[in-house]
Parts: sequence; structure tokens; C-alpha cells
Amino acid sequence: MALKAAIKGVGGYVPDYVLTNQELETMVDTNDQWILERTGISERRILKGENMGTSYLGIQAVKQLLEKTNTNPEDIDLIICATVTPDMFFPATANIIAKGVGASNSFSYDIGAACSGFLYALSTGAQFIETGKYKKVVIVGADKMSSIVDYTDRTTCVLFGDGAGAVLLEPTEEEEGVMDFVLKSDGVGEEYLNMKAGGSRMPSSHETVDQRLHYIYQAGMHVFKYAVVSMADAAAEIMERNSLSGDDVAYLVPHQANKRIIDATAKRMNVGEDKVMMNIHKYGNTTAATIPLCLMDYENKLKKGDNLVLAAFGGGFTWGSAYIKWAY
Ligand code: UT7
Repeated sequence: MALKAAIKGVGGYVPDYVLTNQELETMVDTNDQWILERTGISERRILKGENMGTSYLGIQAVKQLLEKTNTNPEDIDLIICATVTPDMFFPATANIIAKGVGASNSFSYDIGAACSGFLYALSTGAQFIETGKYKKVVIVGADKMSSIVDYTDRTTCVLFGDGAGAVLLEPTEEEEGVMDFVLKSDGVGEEYLNMKAGGSRMPSSHETVDQRLHYIYQAGMHVFKYAVVSMADAAAEIMERNSLSGDDVAYLVPHQANKRIIDATAKRMNVGEDKVMMNIHKYGNTTAATIPLCLMDYENKLKKGDNLVLAAFGGGFTWGSAYIKWAY
């Protein structure tokens, strides 16, 4: 009997500090109406405090996941963390999370695929389960976007927030869990969405700091054009090859970058608003954390056997979708 990787639990964490559209109005030339109409965002969470990185968010999410699923941290085989805001270049943020939760028998590593990171990590983790090699794999999506947001740039600072979400994958012999995925990337996005300095091509220097090159750069309209088509295409492709109609889908679980991109994907899938997981209004775009934070917020509405379509688009460009049959 072929093994499948079932999601057996969800955990999540967002920091306490709420950065509202009204507060942003005092920082840059923007207004609540513009932000709400163009993006769907009202507020986002920000991690405050010295020496607090993405691992802090991830540790809180994984601790909650382990508690909810009654999992002994020493039984975890593997932790994969999707992030674009690692605590440091190395060690991997996943290593720091593993230590922080007491997963002393695990190995762990990071995956960087920007806003598609959780989908990439979930698909990768599922392979380790399906081969029968490992029994407990934790997938974390975590980003402290406030660490790379330029709060003088109104075109990006209104979009992003901090957060983390995590799921536990375990083997099952039932026809459920990660059923299929579509993953894509093309490198075309480099010029439209990037953080130029601090890497090997342009190491940090006084000049890079003076030129504000350690922040997110986004040509929003260009990214929007690609995102709105690609996320819908990926969702449509996975539905078609698994013979799913809109009626068969319990929920679309979309990356939360812009409500207009999400609406276009839902329309293409032929699913109504009641079947779209949405929390962009309260968290903004938390990059790798958006999808698991949606699962956390909607967990109590989900039933065993529900068909979910996950879809994402982000820097790279990277994009994709996954078909999940909910397992509890
Ligand atoms: O998650 C990773 C992938 N990222 C995405 O999927 C994001 C994709 N892009 C978007 O969601 C949208 O492009 C944005 C929300 C970033 C921007 O929305 P837009 O409708 O594409 O606006 P725009 O960039 O075309 O700007 C329209 C106008 C401009 O003014 P002018 O040139 O028409 O006078 C901007 O300067 O809105 C202005 N503007 C703002 N005004 C008030 C840009 N940002 C703001 C702001 N407040 N915060």
C-alpha cells in the first residue's frame, strides 16, 4: 500500500504588536482607504524586541503544534523551515527552531522560495514521508518581514507583516494528505522583486546601507500582472489533472499578498467567497507563513475528507499549487 503524507495538526503564531493602517498614515503618505481597496489589508503584526528573529516566531508556532498534537519533540525526524528572513545566513533558522523546541533527534534545513516557500517545503517534506523513510516531519513557514521592510517606502511598507505557521506530516495508508502538487519557477522575477544587498553579489557595505539596498524592492504592478495569471493557472492545472470541479473543493487556501489576486484565483476555480480562506485583513502578507496561518485560522471549520487547493505566487518568480485531502 502506497504511503501518503497526511497533515495531522497545525500551529501558528503572530506577535502581539498590531500595526494599523492608521499608524502607517502617520509614517508615510498613504491612507486607510487606498490600502484597503488595493490590497484588502487593515492591519498586520510586528515582532518587537531586541535580538528577536524569525526563529522566535517559528519556535512559538512549532511549540503550539507539538502541544496540540501531543507530540514528543524527540520523536520529530525532520524540520523544514521556509523563510526569506532567516535569523542569519547560517546556521539555518530550522536548526535554531529545532534546538528551541527540543527536537534533539531531528535534522533540519531551510528552503528559500519566497512567498511559495511553504508550498515548496510541504511538497519536499511529503516525499520523505511517502518513501517510508521518516514518520514525523514538521513544515514551518516563518518570516519577520518587518526586518527587511523599508518603512519610508509607501509602496511596500503597507503590505507585509510578521508571523509563522507549522504543520505536522505523518504517514497514512488512507487516500488523504498531500495528493498532488504543481511547483514552478522561472527567475524572471529577479528584476521586479528582490533585496539587492547583503548577499554574495553585493556584500554589505556603508554604501549599500546608505543606498537603502537591504530592503525589499518590488515593482508592484509588474508582480501583480504575473501573480494574478500564474496563481490562477496553477490552481486550475491541479484541479484539472485531479478532476476536481469548484463544487468538489471545500476551500481555496491562497497565499495572502493581495485580495484582488485571491479573488481572481477563486473566480478561475469557480469557487465562491465562502470557500476562500482569507486573513490578509489582519496579518497582511507574511510571506512563507500565509498558508499555514490560514489553515490555523480555519482549522475548526475543516472536516476529514475535505478537498483543499493551496496556491501561491512570489519572488523568483516562484509559484504553484497543492491538492490536500484533509486528514482529521
Ligand atoms: O507576495 C509576493 C508577491 N507580491 C505580490 O503578489 C504583490 C503584487 N502587487 C500588488 O499587490 C499591487 O501591485 C500593489 C498592492 C503593490 C500596488 O497596487 P497597484 O494597484 O498595482 O498600485 P500601483 O503600484 O499601480 O500604484 C498606483 C498609484 C501610484 O500613484 P500614481 O503613480 O498613479 O500617482 C502609486 O504611487 O498608487 C500610489 N501608491 C500609493 N498611494 C497611497 C502606491 N502605494 C501607495 C500607498 N498609499 N501605500
